[in-house]
Amino acid sequence: MTDLREQAIAILRTNDHGGYTVPTASGLYPAQWNWDSCLVALGFAQFDPDRAWVEIETLFDGQWADGMVPQISFREADDTYFPNSSVWQAGNGRVKTSGITQPPVAATVVRYLTERGDAPRLTERLGALLPKLLRYHRWFYSARDPQGTGLVSIVHPWESGMDNSPVWDAALAAVEPGPSVAHLRKDTGFSHASVRPTGPEYDRYINLVIGYRALNYDPAKLHGAAPFLVADIGFNSILQRANRDLIALLRGAGDEAGAVEVEGFAARTAAAIEACWDAEDGFYYGRDTRHDRVIRKPGIAGLLPLYADPTVAERHPALLRHLEAWLEQVRFGVPSFAPGTPEFEPRRYWRGPIWLVVNWMVLDGLARNGQAALSQRVLRDSLELVRQGGFGEYFDPTTGEGLGGNSFSWTAAMCLFLRS
Ligand code: DGY
Repeated sequence: MTDLREQAIAILRTNDHGGYTVPTASGLYPAQWNWDSCLVALGFAQFDPDRAWVEIETLFDGQWADGMVPQISFREADDTYFPNSSVWQAGNGRVKTSGITQPPVAATVVRYLTERGDAPRLTERLGALLPKLLRYHRWFYSARDPQGTGLVSIVHPWESGMDNSPVWDAALAAVEPGPSVAHLRKDTGFSHASVRPTGPEYDRYINLVIGYRALNYDPAKLHGAAPFLVADIGFNSILQRANRDLIALLRGAGDEAGAVEVEGFAARTAAAIEACWDAEDGFYYGRDTRHDRVIRKPGIAGLLPLYADPTVAERHPALLRHLEAWLEQVRFGVPSFAPGTPEFEPRRYWRGPIWLVVNWMVLDGLARNGQAALSQRVLRDSLELVRQGGFGEYFDPTTGEGLGGNSFSWTAAMCLFLRS
């Protein structure tokens, strides 16, 4: 039995398809995914700093002319995945891609890699990436917050990364399902249907794609037309943390004008996230922008303001009480949705299972907020899950069983990163 570090390195080496890493060797996701790649770079950094930078550089090769960095870059045969590149029909002329984005962790990861300082040609590489990161952040504020509210909206549950979270149930139910795509799905050939999104959810996911394809993924049209338009508290918290990291990178590189521009974005978003605090429930909720209403559902995204801002716990200790109550009800933390609620399903994807990448955001946020004991608890659980449940895609919080794809890249990466 080799040790966990060696196993994790072997997984990343196996899933490295030459400059980019597929999320799992199983065939479930035969492409480069945006936030998977960024988070995988945190793992590569522990044993191959050059390869960590390559992962980000390859991802940004798929960046669109308008600044968007796509959710998926298709770089190899993709017929084991639906919807594949022939369904999306999108790209930047060099790389075939999907037509939507994903949580923007890139600037946060680039800051970490830069501060490690151990990669070859670091100054030159950072210099090449910084303008791309700035264009990416600008794109969010122009394409996804045209009214300047400070909260950017997502147009598809897939953009949140938390695809079938109960947080989307009402907003998604309002979307036309379109024709059934049950016969086209590939994911349930790799993972049991009981741990994946349902048929009605998938029909709507694909109908959204077809509608956006018809608009040529043009942001000017999408924001007005998207039947699913949601200001997710998790997505905005991740963006806000990335804003702060981008400001530090720009200032460190002497780009004062760029830093001041991103400070403008960050000031708006800080105020808007604070306005999402619900004093009655003691929790942060996002908004359904399309239907102009608060989404009062306790998903793990509501804890992510801790990751964005080190002063949250001081202002809102009630938020920590939610986390503590969740941890009391499960064997391992942190479940992706509040246990004990009718929507909680411990094995079904984002309706309850634990995802180590979000555990990292929670434990990092707790540590920065001065909550060392809670942060350590989440860290211990995270590593114990890998020890007991292996390198699954996600984990059942009631048993610790690994679920979904196996030999999963971002689980291996988190194991390396969190042990460092
Ligand atoms: C999927 O296909 O399940 C992915 O989560 C979409 O990004």
